Amino acid sequence: VWSVDKHVDDIQSYPQIIQPAQLLQDNEVVAFPTETVYGLGANAKSDKAVKKIFQAKGRPGDNPLIVHIASRSQLDELAEEIPQVAEELMAAFWPGPLTLIFHKRKGVLSELVTAALDTVAVRMPDHPVALALIKESGLPIAAPSANTSGRPSPTAARHVQDDLTGKIAGIVDAGATGVGVESTVLDCTEEIPVILRPGGVTREEIEKVAGEVIMDASLKDKAAAPKSPGMKYTHYAPKAPFILVDGNLSFLQSLIDEKKSEGLKVGVFAAKEHETEIRADYILAPGKTSDLNSVASGLYDTLRKFDELPVDIIFGQVFPVSGIGEAVMNRLLKAAGHQVIKQG
Ligand code: TXA
Ligand code: MG
Repeated sequence: VWSVDKHVDDIQSYPQIIQPAQLLQDNEVVAFPTETVYGLGANAKSDKAVKKIFQAKGRPGDNPLIVHIASRSQLDELAEEIPQVAEELMAAFWPGPLTLIFHKRKGVLSELVTAALDTVAVRMPDHPVALALIKESGLPIAAPSANTSGRPSPTAARHVQDDLTGKIAGIVDAGATGVGVESTVLDCTEEIPVILRPGGVTREEIEKVAGEVIMDASLKDKAAAPKSPGMKYTHYAPKAPFILVDGNLSFLQSLIDEKKSEGLKVGVFAAKEHETEIRADYILAPGKTSDLNSVASGLYDTLRKFDELPVDIIFGQVFPVSGIGEAVMNRLLKAAGHQVIKQG
């Protein structure tokens, strides 16, 4: 583990990144912080390096990786036919939690990165330590979230340690990440851009710059095949059964009481505003409904904490599906395997 203080504003004074950057050049895998979640980085040009990502995470080979860059000029090496709308989006949101899908330039990246698709996903993270590491390595860096496949994404170095110790070359630790949900994935190869995964940049923010955008059909209809391969896998699930409850507090309480009367230990994933009004064995709150950014920020840490508690079942409150709430509810629905109990 290399500890770096991200608040130092001069990236020349991150001597701790020299060794991890060297390891990336040597085709080893290194975890590093971004503004969304921790990533597991490798040289995107090397089959050998990229293979180690899939091995460490236990990730299916048909799920392509996002390539991380530190400057706009790096993009031209990786992608072609960059549309005007993408230029405008990059100007507005890079560096930041927006991943763009382009037609890929052939023969540059390892085929394993793109799972042999004709397209490539690229983003420039808004994190001084990530940018410094990418720059120092001189490489495009392929990086999925640095968790074991299926588990909640890591928002702190300790989450990476819990999942990947012994499987990777090291972790660059710069503290908690911030945004807390992954980047928005936007397909720019279509006439009208398509959101494949809601994330850190909201649909409303994108529309202000790009005009009309479409939500991929699979985001509304779980039977539709997603265009983003990763969206078809179960994800983020705590170990105990997790069920969302769409109703008022007394409805939620009646469900809790019913399970408790069966002798079960009940956990509740609640909004901070309601934490003290609910009676259950364990109540954890990621943040406030009135501040959905706080819910996003605390989401994965809270889901992971339930795995350390002796709960038999977890009920989760639902949050408004606007702004960053769209990403929050997308992740919660996946964590719950789309199980929702609606008040009649
Ligand atoms: O915030 C983030 O995006 C984090 C940090 C580390 O940058 N990364 C991340 O990567 O969330 P990952 O691998 O967990 O998710 C990448 C998503 C997957 O759903 C994958 O299927 C999709 O992006 N993706 C990658 N390349 C694609 C492509 N060419 N076409 C469609 N979807 C693609
Ligand atoms: Mg992931």
